[in-house]
Amino acid sequence: MKALALIGGFGTRLRPVTYSVPKQLIPIAGKPMLYHVLDLLPADVEEVVLATGYKAEVIDAYVRAHPLRWPVRTVPEAEPLGTGGGMKNAGGGISDPFFLLNSDVIASADLNALRAAHLARGGVGTMALFEVENPQPYGVAALGPEDRITAFVEKPEPKDAPSRWINAGVAIWQRDVLDAVPAGRQVSFEREIVPGLLPRGVYGFRLGGYWEDAGTPERLLHAQRLLFDDHRGGPGGVPNGAKGPGPVATMGEVDVRDATFGKYVTLGAHVTVEPGAQVENSILMDGASVERNATVVDSLLGPNARARSGHRVAGQVLGEGAEA
Ligand code: GTP
Repeated sequence: MKALALIGGFGTRLRPVTYSVPKQLIPIAGKPMLYHVLDLLPADVEEVVLATGYKAEVIDAYVRAHPLRWPVRTVPEAEPLGTGGGMKNAGGGISDPFFLLNSDVIASADLNALRAAHLARGGVGTMALFEVENPQPYGVAALGPEDRITAFVEKPEPKDAPSRWINAGVAIWQRDVLDAVPAGRQVSFEREIVPGLLPRGVYGFRLGGYWEDAGTPERLLHAQRLLFDDHRGGPGGVPNGAKGPGPVATMGEVDVRDATFGKYVTLGAHVTVEPGAQVENSILMDGASVERNATVVDSLLGPNARARSGHRVAGQVLGEGAEA
């Protein structure tokens, strides 16, 4: 089977970092979000097709320089085509059925079990679902016997949500669902296509464990905690010359002296953390610096961003080269 990953969005909720770095290349727990998402795929997947758009050339260069376990092909779109349009544009040559992944989903899903459930029940698709307190920002499924999806509503008003089981952003579809997607224009697969597929048989696959949509700063940092707690963080550890409990993932050479690290930190390459500084529950991308006696907590520092000496940076997102 092949996999198609949607990776063309603008990542507006993670601006200003996503002005310079596409969302899926933001590191979490030691590697880019995209690489954690693809880790879910079974080893026997033959090819991963990346439906790219925004900053397509940056993603293409990165995956060439950092090969994955599977052959990877990127298919860029000239204009944003939405989730359905991206699938249609990149879906030529896809397998029948195929895995579909949103590239910002951090989860403990077993995709071998998802595949087995799909093959056993048939129908045109099987969507992984996760139960949340508040389904309103997501696509929500109503479930009938055998977990057949009987209704699917994207971002419903609270009173209209048919359940608390949401689209987890991981699914298997038969190839001919792409025939239902009009070509050459923007199409939301979830809004425009999925409801019309339900009479042909679409099933839910309930996930347990953990799940997060890492699309906002808070959820990105929560996804990082989930990955570390599941021992999916790394490589590295608290750097030499630093103290604290960690876990810390270090992605290259760093310059860290006499600093303190609390839990859940990612350090990109060429990060500097000066004496007396403290860092906790944060992501410091390549070249970021934390000067003497500064504190960085619950924050995302983009490439070459800087926390100035003695300052406290809490709950902030700093874009490339920004200072606080
Ligand atoms: P926000 O702008 O912050 O909402 O983020 P986003 O642009 O990533 O949108 P969203 O989280 O809703 O997208 C879900 C998934 O679909 C992500 O993996 C996106 O990269 C992807 N995606 C969204 N729009 C497009 C598109 O027009 N084309 C392609 N190929 N992928 C898309």
